[in-house]
Amino acid sequence: MKLSQIIIFIIVAASLSFVGVLAVDKKNQRRSDEQIINNLLLNMTQLEKIGQMVLVDKNAIEPEGVTRKLIGGVMSGGGGNPEKNTPGDWHQMVAAYKNAALKWRLAIPILYGVDAVHGNGNVYGAVIFPHNIGLGATRNASLIEDIGKATAEEVKATGANWNFAPVLSIPMDFRWGRVYECFSTNQDVVAELGTGYINGLRSQGVLATAKHFIGEGTESWGTSNDYKLDQGEITMSIEDLRGTQLKPFQAAIMAGSMSIMISRSSFNGKKISADKYLLTDLLKNELGFKGFLVSDWGAIDQIRGDYYQDIVTSINAGMDMVMLPTDYDLFIDKISVAIDKGDIRQERIDDAVTRILRAKISIGLFDDAVDSSELVNNIGSIKHREVARQAVRESLVLLKNEKEALPIRNQKRILIVGRAANDIGMQAGGWTIEWQGGHGDTTPGTSILEAFKNEFKDSEVIYDPMATGKESIKAEVGVVVVGEQPYAEGVGDRERLLLSPEDLKRIQTAKKNSDKVVLVVLAGRPLIIREVLNDVDAAVMAWLPGTEGAGITDVLSGKYNFSGKLPLSWPKTMEQVEKKDTRDPLFEFGFGLSYHN
Ligand code: BGC
Ligand code: BGC
Repeated sequence: MKLSQIIIFIIVAASLSFVGVLAVDKKNQRRSDEQIINNLLLNMTQLEKIGQMVLVDKNAIEPEGVTRKLIGGVMSGGGGNPEKNTPGDWHQMVAAYKNAALKWRLAIPILYGVDAVHGNGNVYGAVIFPHNIGLGATRNASLIEDIGKATAEEVKATGANWNFAPVLSIPMDFRWGRVYECFSTNQDVVAELGTGYINGLRSQGVLATAKHFIGEGTESWGTSNDYKLDQGEITMSIEDLRGTQLKPFQAAIMAGSMSIMISRSSFNGKKISADKYLLTDLLKNELGFKGFLVSDWGAIDQIRGDYYQDIVTSINAGMDMVMLPTDYDLFIDKISVAIDKGDIRQERIDDAVTRILRAKISIGLFDDAVDSSELVNNIGSIKHREVARQAVRESLVLLKNEKEALPIRNQKRILIVGRAANDIGMQAGGWTIEWQGGHGDTTPGTSILEAFKNEFKDSEVIYDPMATGKESIKAEVGVVVVGEQPYAEGVGDRERLLLSPEDLKRIQTAKKNSDKVVLVVLAGRPLIIREVLNDVDAAVMAWLPGTEGAGITDVLSGKYNFSGKLPLSWPKTMEQVEKKDTRDPLFEFGFGLSYHN
């Protein structure tokens, strides 16, 4: 035989034996997942292994690239939508990447990841649930499991199978732009609600991601390169870090979250993405995590050193999959060299691939035959809207109620003041259609104004968005809706958490034109409102409720009682915020009034 014939013979024999292995596995269900993984590993080339470790943003890769480089995961970042943002176009886009992976020899299915952090928020028409901080106020783990399940159904409807959620951080500094992505400042609440959410995702075969490990929300102000706090420096002892931040991640591992996203912040001067102690010794060895670690967007580049060294450091620290916003070819070249030179050992690569395959098997990716195009009707379904509306109801926290301003019943005239009252984008906040969110009718939903018009059919509902006072004749009750403009991540790091001058004016207008004033706050975190509260009769914290504004009128009308409890302690002053001082707050952790108390 000539050399070329020998090579062909070996390739054919190897593939046949592999096909044989799969066939035997199909028949013989008793073979464990670990054996399947080992067999795959034995048959994979180095490039196939490396490909599994690569997660590329869809804007940086065509389906053809998935086949050519044997890529293991593709994703949509915030706003990573198809040109036409319809469920059908989503399904087509994702399917093209999935099919591309099935074209190569081993046909290992890809993961397609999305940030469905409050429903499948990128998708036009998806149900937008309250952001996590509102869910924290419900304290209702079984409701949050329902939300995880509904979200997973809307994720699967697009063909995606991986959700970069839930956030399990403990937001100690409210100036941070990601407070609303967290459930609570209390570890036990976060652990319990995070577990519920993960159970919900798992029930539908969607891969969960506990993120971002570890300590986010405790960085020092002014230590971030790009922002103020986000991705900055965490300075505390390892004992404190373990004591105050670890529990929710332990719970997530117990609940079967098979991926964990690593924070871009630094712990005591070292990027966590480069920290072998935290990634390998703690997560994998001590806590026994069997899934895989994925880096955050562009995180590897932030490690000190050149790109080659960053890759070596992070993979050797225990990173298993790398999220690449741009050049995946370059990454593959560099990591290949590192393996050839022995800077990264073969066992480390095999361990990473084993973990990734294990996670893929855990969500049934290898036996996924359902054509998800039939599932598109799940997106924005009435059933899911009902779940979201319940969540809105249960998330509302009644901060003040005097002169029986609430509930609102049988009023001749209701005055609604504030642009936020008629702005789905503001109700939804960041991570909605676009990374930073947006204003107005960005996606279908019920605004607070519409909800009032539907609920109070016998009253005259007058709307005065800019608080001109012109259109408003005296009303029995004025409802003024104020709050934060949409933001996401470090863009929302904000030095002073105050209401805008426009919002303060709106409150005065409502006061002038109505007998009683009800304040509704739409915000992702506590704002400094001590003085403002003196000007209103009732105040409700509505967080970032999402598309189902009717949940608000359900409670303001008295049809349902208030049950939300603050998931954090609400500071009186900016000084308290800066010092993270929870003594003598405006409202204690757990505070929340209801009717008749
Ligand atoms: C965020 C992650 C997110 C990722 C992908 C990052 O900037 O920190 O939470 O999952 O982008 O969109
Ligand atoms: C992406 C987000 C990502 C962010 C990180 C944006 O362009 O859409 O998903 O989290 O960049 O900076």
